[in-house]
Amino acid sequence: MSTQPPPKVLFATSEIAPWVKTGGLGDVSAALPAALADAGADVRVLVPGYPALLAAFPGRVECARIERPGGAFLPARIARAPLRPGLELLLLECPALYDRHGGPYQDRAGAEWPDNSLRFGLLSKAAALLASTDTPLDWSPSILHCNDWQSALAPAYLRYRLRPACPSVVTIHNLAFQGVFGAERLDALDLPPRALAIDGVEFHGQVSFLKAGLQLCDCVTTVSPTYAREICEPAHGCGLDGLLRHRRDRGAGELRGILNGIDTALWNPATDPSIAAPYDAGALGGKRANRSALARRMGLDASAGAPFLGMISRMTAQKGVDLVLEIAPALVARGARLAILGSGDATLEAAWRELAAAHPRRIAVEIGFDEALAHLIEAGADAFLMPSRFEPCGLNQMYSLAYGTPPIVRATGGLADTVVDCTPRTLAEGSANGFSFVEPHAAALLETVERALAVWRDRRAWRKLQRNGMARDWSWGTAAREYAGLYRSCGREPPPVVPQAAAPTRP
Ligand code: ADP
Ligand code: GLC
Repeated sequence: MSTQPPPKVLFATSEIAPWVKTGGLGDVSAALPAALADAGADVRVLVPGYPALLAAFPGRVECARIERPGGAFLPARIARAPLRPGLELLLLECPALYDRHGGPYQDRAGAEWPDNSLRFGLLSKAAALLASTDTPLDWSPSILHCNDWQSALAPAYLRYRLRPACPSVVTIHNLAFQGVFGAERLDALDLPPRALAIDGVEFHGQVSFLKAGLQLCDCVTTVSPTYAREICEPAHGCGLDGLLRHRRDRGAGELRGILNGIDTALWNPATDPSIAAPYDAGALGGKRANRSALARRMGLDASAGAPFLGMISRMTAQKGVDLVLEIAPALVARGARLAILGSGDATLEAAWRELAAAHPRRIAVEIGFDEALAHLIEAGADAFLMPSRFEPCGLNQMYSLAYGTPPIVRATGGLADTVVDCTPRTLAEGSANGFSFVEPHAAALLETVERALAVWRDRRAWRKLQRNGMARDWSWGTAAREYAGLYRSCGREPPPVVPQAAAPTRP
């Protein structure tokens, strides 16, 4: 057992479920800090004071003021709101930047907020300040944990404007979003001209929040081991693969893939209040009532013998939503029903609406964000579609596995690390839990769904597949332990190698 004190973690993030969530980052920012606190860490989550959070925590107490944040930043304050022992929220309040209706990144019409560089520049600056020797708080972290580009500029402030009091970690949840702004923003962001350099915040002549973090933090992590390898290659590196290879090769622990978990208090079919009937691996019959409820809720024909395929997704090219669109008529022709929930790209949304209109009671599409329906789809569908072109981790396939709804995925990133393709061998071994394919093409997806439907018709084999997925522990425990280990070693010099006398050889 380690004799070191438990870590004191400042976790900086732009989303936190259930209050502000556009995707998996919101889920992770709620569940990982809680799992760390359960493991004994002292965790504070720094998040912008959006309206939903201000309304949820009316009793929050001011604990610091940032009167002169520098650059074009307006003064801000920080208010604390305890969540549970070892865990509290720190709301970064700057009403002009955060107290507005719409999403965290976009307005209601889907346009990026024009002042996002300042909104997330201030989040990064505040995180850096709390992790510096000039912190206005009476609490100092032993590690600063930044997440995605929105807080990744913090290490730049610790390099150019402040003195760090602890090491920093940057976690990549999605390398495709980098927070790149014109070089003329440098002054407004309170960064000196020398920061616009190849070993600083510069990326092709612009300011990149994520590049800055990846360059200047002590340790980089991402959310699955396979994605950690993929982003070191040009195909998935989004222009940053060279830097990531450099970090990977520089030393042990500088680029790690730590697989996300799921919040098993929220995503558990035995206790889920959003589904029609509880069930577990021992009594899978309960899924039938959820299938009927899903059919009623979405207006699907629930004839026996029709497999229900679910999908919950941001509607973007990343998720392979277009591949599903392409094969949807063929799936309907094979008797399947589709239950689709998502929002995003307007063209993809429109294409789904059209398809649903052309196949009433066979294809049901709900455009929007609906947490309760997401739970019901996981519980009521027979199988789950997630043919992502890339997937840093992916949470929905793990929710599906926990709900006995075998996922059909493309073998990439975290999908490759969690889904074991069903073959006669893996089924016999007891490892099969879903279906996967490699080529990002509609034909490969269709062939894989056909394979899945053949197994679905074999009731015993399907039960086995469902139980294999449900048997594994998908909770955050393992990841929390890995992060705790990383927090302890990150930024510390490796222990000196003490020359030792040759050990006696064992017989
Ligand atoms: P990503 O973060 O790339 O969108 P993840 O699979 O990691 O993908 O996480 C997505 C999260 O967002 C899951 O919790 C999923 O259920 C949820 N989600 C995505 N779209 C919707 C939607 N339209 N309605 C409800 N929940 C959604
Ligand atoms: C990102 C990724 C997703 C991951 C999530 C949480 O949104 O796209 O794969 O699960 O972050 O880490």
